Amino acid sequence: TDLAALIRRLPKVELHLHIEGSFEPELMFALAKRNGVALPYSSVEALRAAYDFSNLQSFLDLYYAGANVLITEQDFYDLTWAYLEKAHADNIVHTEIFFDPQTHTARGVPFATVLNGIHRALEDGKSKFGISYRLIMSFLRHLSEEDGFATLDEAMPHLDRIDGVGLDSSEQGNPPEKFARLFERCKQLGLPRVAHAGEEGPPEYVWQALDLLDVSRIDHGVRSLEDAALVKRLAETSMPLTVCPFSNVRLKVFDKLADHNLKQLLAQGLMATVNSDDPAYFGGYLQDNLLACAEVLDLSRDEVLTLVKNSFIASWLSAEDKSRWL
Ligand code: HPA
Ligand code: ZN
Repeated sequence: TDLAALIRRLPKVELHLHIEGSFEPELMFALAKRNGVALPYSSVEALRAAYDFSNLQSFLDLYYAGANVLITEQDFYDLTWAYLEKAHADNIVHTEIFFDPQTHTARGVPFATVLNGIHRALEDGKSKFGISYRLIMSFLRHLSEEDGFATLDEAMPHLDRIDGVGLDSSEQGNPPEKFARLFERCKQLGLPRVAHAGEEGPPEYVWQALDLLDVSRIDHGVRSLEDAALVKRLAETSMPLTVCPFSNVRLKVFDKLADHNLKQLLAQGLMATVNSDDPAYFGGYLQDNLLACAEVLDLSRDEVLTLVKNSFIASWLSAEDKSRWL
């Protein structure tokens, strides 16, 4: 259709992608072989078949197991480069990606090994594809705030290459308030902050991310519609929501894509954006999410343009760069 052609043609921005979640089974098997690590699956097909999730935790268990294969700086480079090739093919011109250092440092992989590999690939993506980027260090919320402080200490010599911090992993039972002191420290260091909230967790967690973590975006945030006062707050402050439709369906936040509330978020005047989250696990990249939403949710041309423009507005690009794209 014309709308699908427009979606493919438009320059796009990604604001919610976990680099470890872009680890395609083919590359996972290749790196497992290179590193002499055994995978508990007989084939790429058997691994893909295991991607049948019942909630966030059932996904996270496989996501962390897959990340165990990543050991050398070259592994992190290859992972990131494979993502950038996909992003380039989909006309993504700017990407703000998460990495989870604790997933790797807890296994004895040095912080610098992870960061150097990811950063070198991002720099190559900038020079070879013209894709600009920001890198967001995400804290694992199932771990303690103390562990987060130790990770921030490890990051200190590298803050010139870290553009902001996030909060991800198991949401229920790990509210933003658990990390209020850590995020206050990050704020003092001048680091922009985002947090996953209102994915599986209640609207109260979105309030906490706003009021206690002082975030500049909410990752997911789809459960915000359950709280009218929260919707008002988000609308009045033009707070961006980095919505990930395929993720929400695969993790059973919504039964099927037709039930997703993306259209209602826009109708309520919220700054919704469409993103891919963990595309290797959830069945598609950003453009696939947009194409499927346009079709299944019957998005108008205006709604599609709003979603794509919102991602530029909500990005951490400079005002000058934004005005060049918008
Ligand atoms: N939610 C929380 N943690 C995550 C996600 C997510 O969607 N993806 C990777 N880590
Ligand atoms: Zn996420």
